[in-house]
Amino acid sequence: MKIVNTVAELKASIAAFKQQNKTIGLVPTMGALHQGHASLVSRSVKENDVTVVSVFVNPTQFNDKNDLANYPRTLEADCQLLESLGATMVFAPTAEEIYPEPDTRQFSYPPTDTVMEGAFRPGHFNGVCQIVSKLFMFVEPDRGYFGEKDFQQIAVIRAMVKDLKFHLQIVPCPIVREADGLAMSSRNTLLTAQERQIAPAIYKALRRSVNLQQTHTVEETKQAVINEINAVEGLEVQYYEIVDAETLVSITDWNQAEHVQGCITVFCGHTPIRLIDNINYK
Ligand code: PAJ
Repeated sequence: MKIVNTVAELKASIAAFKQQNKTIGLVPTMGALHQGHASLVSRSVKENDVTVVSVFVNPTQFNDKNDLANYPRTLEADCQLLESLGATMVFAPTAEEIYPEPDTRQFSYPPTDTVMEGAFRPGHFNGVCQIVSKLFMFVEPDRGYFGEKDFQQIAVIRAMVKDLKFHLQIVPCPIVREADGLAMSSRNTLLTAQERQIAPAIYKALRRSVNLQQTHTVEETKQAVINEINAVEGLEVQYYEIVDAETLVSITDWNQAEHVQGCITVFCGHTPIRLIDNINYK
């Protein structure tokens, strides 16, 4: 497995792969890798001749300086895991390498990037589009792998791909969970033992609510999830929205959309750590 730090090295390797007509899968990550990331990498290794994994804590998508400073960084362990999974190449640049000049590009794909995370983390999806568009331009992958853990991120990236006419397939991958249901996340390592113990209540409430849709309205179901989680000391729901899975617009009636997703963000503990999750209703 090759590890490169510069765009020039990355592009030289990509040019060689392209000359050999190899298909390329790209897995963008911010490192501190876990089994959720590993599932994306394994899928790419299965479906492509070459798998490129980027490991870059992208500063432009953090709207909170502390969050950026505290974000876990474990490049050596990440590379060991990626090698064992059969990745071809790791791209681990510095921030100066990616942004030699401030990136002033503005991406705007309402409503996908204005609701939920877009509303509570101003500038977040603009930063995601800045880095992901650069990666797509540098790597020119045949397929890009993204986790449904960040359900809204996939919708925003799909909108960007359509807008900029990137020639690649976006491959959504299912959420990988801990045995107790907590969605795997790099930020889980920041939870104290006690916070880690209460965090699974988020998925428990989401799962339970799937049965409510037979007998309850959208609003009742939404409130049931919020109340159940807020009843746990140390957990506080920032938002819970039941949305059309394609447009991410909130619905008021179960029949309003073909596919329906519930998207949640919860504050856990004193710091607090922000945990996101989602569930499919239909
Ligand atoms: P990061 O949070 O490191 O996640 C990288 C990819 O792994 C994302 O597509 C994310 O949805 C996926 N992922 C994370 N946890 C997962 C889980 N439990 N199950 C399945 N997939 C999971 O998302 C980002 O980084 C950044 O925004 C990025 C796209 C790399 C741009 O900087």
